[in-house]
Amino acid sequence: MDIIFDTVTEETLIELEKTQKDFWNVPRKTGVLLNMFVKMMNAKSVLEIGTSNGYSGLWLSKALKETDGRLTTIEFYEKRQSIAIDNFKKCGVLDIIRPLQGSACEIIKNFSEEEKFDFVFIDANKREYVEYFNLIKPHLTEKAMIVADNIISHAEKVKTFVDAIDADNEFQYAIVEVPGGILTAYRSK
Ligand SMILES: C[S@@+](CC[C@H](N)C(=O)[O-])C[C@H]1O[C@@H](n2cnc3c(N)ncnc32)[C@H](O)[C@@H]1O
Repeated sequence: MDIIFDTVTEETLIELEKTQKDFWNVPRKTGVLLNMFVKMMNAKSVLEIGTSNGYSGLWLSKALKETDGRLTTIEFYEKRQSIAIDNFKKCGVLDIIRPLQGSACEIIKNFSEEEKFDFVFIDANKREYVEYFNLIKPHLTEKAMIVADNIISHAEKVKTFVDAIDADNEFQYAIVEVPGGILTAYRSK
């Protein structure tokens, strides 16, 4: 069965899919997977790096409404962040979202030591993936999941990140062949 949201959310997702290429949104299939992963992990504190217009954020936050969790999402451009906030508001999820604007690395560097995430979705500057990974590691809960987009479509740019995950014995991972390709990693030790 396909997942069914309220009418406003369904219509908003369909509307955003029409401009998917302009805003570099994940394909719907990845949205469905993100939504399922958050629920399967019973995630309470999700970090998204790369908000854009909020498309993937909607899939994440709709799942977080069910797990009673919260989403922190980072976007560099103010204009895109403001479009995302409008979409979050329209779909009734803004109350569980903390939208942060600026450079992801700088923002993560400024997180307090107590800031912990049990699920992280990486989808910003491909060449910085490895840096995001190194910066978020101290902020992961013991059993956390990381999902990263464009692993196949931007294989060259994200190679250092994949190599870092591959060399890290705390994580097991698999690359899933949805369009663009996602890496799914689970901190199992
Ligand atoms: C691929 S899009 C994100 C799409 C979104 N996850 C979705 O599926 O709806 C990447 C976004 O990351 C933002 N971005 C790129 N580099 C960034 C950085 N260093 N810090 C914060 N945001 C960044 C871009 O402005 C862009 O909106």
